[in-house]
Amino acid sequence: MSDANVTLQRHGAVALVTLASQNTLNPLTSALMTELGAALQALDHDSETRAIVLTGSPRAFAAGADIQAMAGMTYAHAVQDNYLAAEWQAVSALRKPLVAAVRGYALGGGCELAMICDIVVAGENALFGQPEIKLGLVPGAGGTQRLPRAVGKSLAMEMNLSGEPITATQALASGLVSRVVADEDVVDVALSVAQSIARHSLPVLLAVKAATARAFETSLAEGLAYERSAFHGCFALNDQREGCEAFLERRVPHFDHR
Ligand code: HXC
Repeated sequence: MSDANVTLQRHGAVALVTLASQNTLNPLTSALMTELGAALQALDHDSETRAIVLTGSPRAFAAGADIQAMAGMTYAHAVQDNYLAAEWQAVSALRKPLVAAVRGYALGGGCELAMICDIVVAGENALFGQPEIKLGLVPGAGGTQRLPRAVGKSLAMEMNLSGEPITATQALASGLVSRVVADEDVVDVALSVAQSIARHSLPVLLAVKAATARAFETSLAEGLAYERSAFHGCFALNDQREGCEAFLERRVPHFDHR
């Protein structure tokens, strides 16, 4: 697949999806988000893919939603069309592990897109921010919800209310990203993180992602009940038997993803 805004490369069981709009700041237009959602949904249904890396250009992961389009937007249009909701839903509904490789700006919707990803690897010069307030806007895809869950109330409030970005170092200290590496190594490191995920059993990867996501969506009691049920469910899998037997036989497991 190759089109104007999104490109796809395969690295074995890992897919590398690159935002590649003509403007290297990658404004998240409706067209780009629709293409991205379609690409990710296709990979979610592709039995050969077990992990996905999402990256942008060296200049920007993405500089946010399309300000050109929003400049002429009315409330009636936004609410009647449920502006950007369906496009973003397709991305956040992904069931497979998604690793963001962030270089440069991750602002507004760009920061929110990174936060939809399960793991964020950042380049040393990456900047994360929610500048919507400067445009007279409330963040629209998780800035007020995922950001406080990731970095805590005080820093999230400061970022959302001031609109000023934080550096990769601050993002690492606050838990927004899992690693900071040299800018030129970001994609390779993200691919290697994704490869270390993709060697495991696909049904177990899906279950671990779904269960871990519950930690941010439900009460502790409900999350623990979900986890226990997912744990018990693993005993229906060939891969559970193979994983345990391989450990006892001191060999690498050969998962058949069933
Ligand atoms: C549309 C954008 C854009 C955006 C930049 N451009 N960001 N166009 N949407 N989000 C355009 C500029 O208008 C300009 O076009 C060209 O890209 C280059 O931008 P410059 O500002 O000249 O580049 P630079 O000086 O390098 O500054 C880079 C930047 C700045 C710091 C990233 O562009 C910036 O602050 N962008 C806006 C970031 C932002 O506010 N994001 C939040 C958007 S709201 P021309 O034609 O003049 O060359 C949002 C809501 C999410 O994301 C809702 C989700 C549902």
